[in-house]
Amino acid sequence: MNISTNSNFHSPRLILEDKRKEESVNQIVSALVLTPELIKQIQDTFESEMELGLMQNPPKASSLQMENTFIPELPNGKEDGDFLALDLGGTNFRVILIRLKPGHQAESYVQYYTVPEFIRIGDHGEPLFDFLAECIHDFMKKNDLLEKHLPLGFCFSFPMVQKALDIGVLVTWTKSFNIPSVVGEDAVKMLNDALERRGDLQVNVVAVVNDTTGTLIKGASLYPDCAIGLILGTGCNACYLEKVERIKKWDGEHPGIDEVIVDIEWGAFGDNGVLDFMKTEFDKIVDNNSLLVSSFTFEKLFAGKYLGELVRQILLCLIDDKLLFRGKLSNMMMTHNAFTAEHVSEIESQDGDLKAREILETLGYPSVTDDDIAILRHLCAVTSVRGARIVSICLASLLNRMKKEFVTVAIDGSLYNKHPKFHQLMTDFIAEMAPERKFKLMLAEDGSGKGAGLVAAIAERLKAQKHKTEV
Ligand code: BGC
Repeated sequence: MNISTNSNFHSPRLILEDKRKEESVNQIVSALVLTPELIKQIQDTFESEMELGLMQNPPKASSLQMENTFIPELPNGKEDGDFLALDLGGTNFRVILIRLKPGHQAESYVQYYTVPEFIRIGDHGEPLFDFLAECIHDFMKKNDLLEKHLPLGFCFSFPMVQKALDIGVLVTWTKSFNIPSVVGEDAVKMLNDALERRGDLQVNVVAVVNDTTGTLIKGASLYPDCAIGLILGTGCNACYLEKVERIKKWDGEHPGIDEVIVDIEWGAFGDNGVLDFMKTEFDKIVDNNSLLVSSFTFEKLFAGKYLGELVRQILLCLIDDKLLFRGKLSNMMMTHNAFTAEHVSEIESQDGDLKAREILETLGYPSVTDDDIAILRHLCAVTSVRGARIVSICLASLLNRMKKEFVTVAIDGSLYNKHPKFHQLMTDFIAEMAPERKFKLMLAEDGSGKGAGLVAAIAERLKAQKHKTEV
């Protein structure tokens, strides 16, 4: 790996009138700056965790699930018909209709629903799945589809053990969901049961996919060299095309299949302690205040649900040391999650000074100094660069591992979409860490949901092929 020893490479600099203050802030923030040595250590750790995760009998447990998705085929452009897709992962849930016609652009119709908190967090799973079934009904009614029999692809963006294309057993909840009794249950069965309870819909769940897989599939329908799907949103995760011979833990039959999509589940990277060497005190506080403590180490370092909270924790420390806002702590600033990843994105934009002032006003700071603004902007820049660097380390590892001539990385997610610098930072960091690889990072908007619809089409095609060979 060739990591620049030039420490100024995309490393934001803080310049203040007050040099003593500048030095004190820099000292506190320095823990978040990744040195070439740390970068190398993260990359080596990621690569060995991937190998462990693919082994049949690993000598120690990996924090990377490296889950086989059982999707051996990408779209071939011949998919035909109407398919439904559900996309569940954040607080917004989507129902999508995808119309596929060979030789034509896919048409899609989307409706968003908000999953209320009492359904996202609770003791029983049925209310969640009944809610999903109700939304499907609402969507079908509005689009005049109630009479139709439709196959459905379920994009369920949580760690699952996939036993088949249509069996996804929940390993753990993440992000803003926590319904413990669903852990260990098959999400497809729970959805099918809810549809059956209603009894008024002719919908059949034929495939379940993670959002990264949906994004890769959607990407592959646009760019034939797409081989990585990345979600950089509320949470973060990636999947890629792995050679079947390297998936040592796959015991089942897999004749004639050369590559399969593997869902890495890298949000949990480090849950076994292997990333402790790089966690700062701020990361530990973010984790301690999160919904599911001591899990999803990697995701909590930078993903959309946590980036703003990370900045807020550093702000609190600087306020406490009287380096910011003359030591004044507003009520809003004391509120968990009051500072968000959207705020970081706005402050990282070209009119960041103005945005920073507006945001600080809403947080109870109507009059701030130029130094206050410069410090806040610096914190947003440092945490963003760290986040982009960490994701890039893993992507560079994947590119180096796959050794393909050219790889398109299909990306979806609010952080990537809204943050004005992530794309460029990642492009530069990956080029630096995988200098021999050719790649491009492409937005696959709504990739997860639309990809789930495409997977439903592939599942139907595979079923028809199997039926043909059996007859
Ligand atoms: C989930 C992954 C998902 C990622 C992005 C993580 O919290 O565990 O399954 O792909 O979020 O939505």
